Amino acid sequence: MNVRDRLIVALDLPSVAAAEALVTRLGDSVSFYKIGYQLAFAGGLSFAETLIRADKRVFLDLKLHDIGNTVAKGVESVAKLGATFLTVHAYPQTMHAAVDARKGSSLRILAVTVLTSYDDADLAAAGYDFTVPELVAERAAQARDIGVDGLVCSAEEAARLRSIASAGMVLVTPGIRPAGAEKGDQTRIMTPAAAISAGADHLVVGRPILEAPDPKAAAEAIVAEIAGATR
Ligand code: C5P
Repeated sequence: MNVRDRLIVALDLPSVAAAEALVTRLGDSVSFYKIGYQLAFAGGLSFAETLIRADKRVFLDLKLHDIGNTVAKGVESVAKLGATFLTVHAYPQTMHAAVDARKGSSLRILAVTVLTSYDDADLAAAGYDFTVPELVAERAAQARDIGVDGLVCSAEEAARLRSIASAGMVLVTPGIRPAGAEKGDQTRIMTPAAAISAGADHLVVGRPILEAPDPKAAAEAIVAEIAGATR
């Protein structure tokens, strides 16, 4: 894999105009962008097509979960857009539908096992009789058996999930902070080099690039750190 493709910049921005300005500023330094709820519901899906036409890769972080037929139809539409990654919640019915519907396209499905904002008490309140690590491991194994293409996980979980995931599955990790960067609301963070060493394939980085005085220099520094860790 090209080192530059391992960095995914989260376009957590309120408008297409703001996203366009950032993408222009980052230029050739960044090849892969993540679009989540905020931008997707503010014109971001047509902006995704613009990015794809400009030879960028797009990760649509829409965390789908619905009846199988509805998930399948949604995934077919996302595949037509030309996106590279799409997230779904790691429920077996949802994962089966998504994996079947992406066949024949270049779209890859990533499963979100347990949201990182959840603790054991949140799971109990939602009716689960599992701890967070137990449910993460259970759902990762189900994702592997169903043929899901990858998992979104914290860098801390990456080493453990590497041993559960199949060899071809990609691990995509947010919560990345270069040494000295602001943590923001992230609690479990790792540097780019440590995350790569822990087994992450792609790093999702938002604020350390979006809020940097020189976003392009911040992105280049992270790409260099990834390159150093993969040598
Ligand atoms: O700004 P920051 O680098 O913290 O952004 C991280 C990105 O990764 C955000 O788009 C956030 O929604 C996403 N994410 C996360 N933690 C997860 C899953 C996704 O921070 N567990």
